[in-house]
Amino acid sequence: MSGFTAPHCGSLRASDVGRELELYGWVARRRDHGGLIFIDLRDRWGAVQVVFKSAETRAVAADLRLEFVVRITGMVSRRPAGSENPAMPTGEIEVEASELVIITRAKTPPFPIEDDTTADESIRLKYRYLDLRRPRMQRILELRHRVNKIIHTYMDEHEFIEVETPLLVKGTPEGARDFIVPSRLHIGEFFALPQSPQQLKQLLMVSGLGRYYQIARCLRDEDLRADRALEFTQLDLEMSFCDEEDIFTLIEGLWARIWKEILDVDLVVPFPRLDMKETLLRYGTDKPDLRYELEIADLGEVLAQTEAQVFKTVLAEGGVVRGFAVPGGKDMTRRELDDLSTIAKGAGAKGLAWLPGPLDKFVSASEMEGIKRATAAGPDDLVLIVADKRRRAEKVLGLIRQQVARNRKLIRANEWRFLWVYPMYLFEEDDEGKLTYGHHPFTSPMEEDLAFIDEVPYDVRAHAYDIVCNGYELGGGSIRIHDRALQEKVFEILGHSRDSIRERFGHLLDAFEYGVPPHGGIAPGIDRIVMMLAGTENIRDVIAFPKTQSHQDLMLGAPSPVDQAQLEELHIKVVPPQKTDR
Ligand code: AMO
Ligand code: AMP
Repeated sequence: MSGFTAPHCGSLRASDVGRELELYGWVARRRDHGGLIFIDLRDRWGAVQVVFKSAETRAVAADLRLEFVVRITGMVSRRPAGSENPAMPTGEIEVEASELVIITRAKTPPFPIEDDTTADESIRLKYRYLDLRRPRMQRILELRHRVNKIIHTYMDEHEFIEVETPLLVKGTPEGARDFIVPSRLHIGEFFALPQSPQQLKQLLMVSGLGRYYQIARCLRDEDLRADRALEFTQLDLEMSFCDEEDIFTLIEGLWARIWKEILDVDLVVPFPRLDMKETLLRYGTDKPDLRYELEIADLGEVLAQTEAQVFKTVLAEGGVVRGFAVPGGKDMTRRELDDLSTIAKGAGAKGLAWLPGPLDKFVSASEMEGIKRATAAGPDDLVLIVADKRRRAEKVLGLIRQQVARNRKLIRANEWRFLWVYPMYLFEEDDEGKLTYGHHPFTSPMEEDLAFIDEVPYDVRAHAYDIVCNGYELGGGSIRIHDRALQEKVFEILGHSRDSIRERFGHLLDAFEYGVPPHGGIAPGIDRIVMMLAGTENIRDVIAFPKTQSHQDLMLGAPSPVDQAQLEELHIKVVPPQKTDR
């Protein structure tokens, strides 16, 4: 067999006419025209038509079924005039087989190996090796390879070196749950799988490495969404003696390179920047999609004296009233508005108001004018309004804004709207209303805000940034704290006791006492970049062997029970949950 030097099925062109060759591949289609048998022979590079004319080859070809693996010896010839297929890159030619060997036979696959499959995703994942045989999936794997290759070249050009960091580590807080691995030699003790190489890359800066990067696997036990995986990959990078401008320039250059080489699109750099407060106010999310307008405005000032009860009460309680104009929205049906109200309520809002609408009689003429001015509403526009606590109002309006854009087809295709969300806040409120870190606890506060870190911690801005594109958070990073005392202080504000700081982060704090350079970095998510470039909204499409939404590998059948002996060796006992009779 000489498949390595043999030409590829999908690479043959008219310039190969007359060439004698050997081809290897899978039977992708088969047509029996009495005297002639045709197949399409497929490999990673595409498919080519093969024709069996001689009695000997037809005798073997009669046996062929889809997905058989075969070897063909033959000659490339031009297809007879009129039988060319412009839809196939190889459509001008065919291979006339002089010999056909069936290498392996195949059962009928559980779904046809074609791009527009209607097969259920769970079947596709169970037979992922067949799913990956589909041309579209092979293109995505190639795309991902090319992106990684561009990254390696670019980082090397900028004198970053790749260092592999361990998978068995100690928990690093990135906001998700750790996956843990029991230690056999240290009974009752566990490694954590890295949520990111965050602390290690900072330690590499203490080591004097200057510029580090890694195509790094990260593992986070969290609830999955369309753009979230349990195992994902970051371009993780860190550099010393830098500020955020250096990071922005580096990353903008990388995006420009990738978009140019993959899509032949010239991105305009530098990207715009918007601070976190403005981002949340105007778009109701920290990862806005700028391919449509629908900008949110604060109506608190306009409605300060309002008699409309829904707004008055919320404002009196320190909440906000915000809204946006829907261009031409006066034609929205009651049904459409009710659906939006349902979404608003589903996200925790008490309701959704619209003007003009049922609340007209409670809103004075001057308030109405003010609302129109604030939202830049024209005569045919409808203003959608939510009154609530600030965080909830933002979340609800963010969702409504997105839904309206989808319903009314306002999202402009073929636009790449990159944005730096910068600066961000050092702390934020978690879902229970408790103080937590905004990015991660190693992020440095802005010096000028340190004065009020104890009094109004939520107002402290950080040297932290997210890179966002078309509604996706593509990456996040920060300039780090490099001062032991400040790092301890931040841990304390986050509610860590002295002992827990020592136990969890002692290695980092100790390292900071041996000559630590100021440093910072970022970690773009490679899966999400490939999703955007491949035009898919499902992160599993860009991962060769992904887990399902419910944390399973359907092909391997993982997770699965392990032998009792293995558990005993680790001194682990599985205690099934108690059945509660509720
Ligand atoms: P962060 O936690 O913001 O930062 O993650 C950075 C980027 O990683 C991607 N990402 C994910 N992709 C797929 N599935 C997931 N579950 C998932 N979680 C995160 C996103 C995100 O923007 N150590 C810091 C970086 C730093 O400060 O340098 C970190 O991990 O694209
Ligand atoms: P209600 O007083 O609850 O009958 O609501 C009157 C109108 O105001 C309805 O259209 C509600 O959907 C809307 N509404 C109620 N609460 C809010 C709120 N917090 N923000 C925006 N609209 C609201």
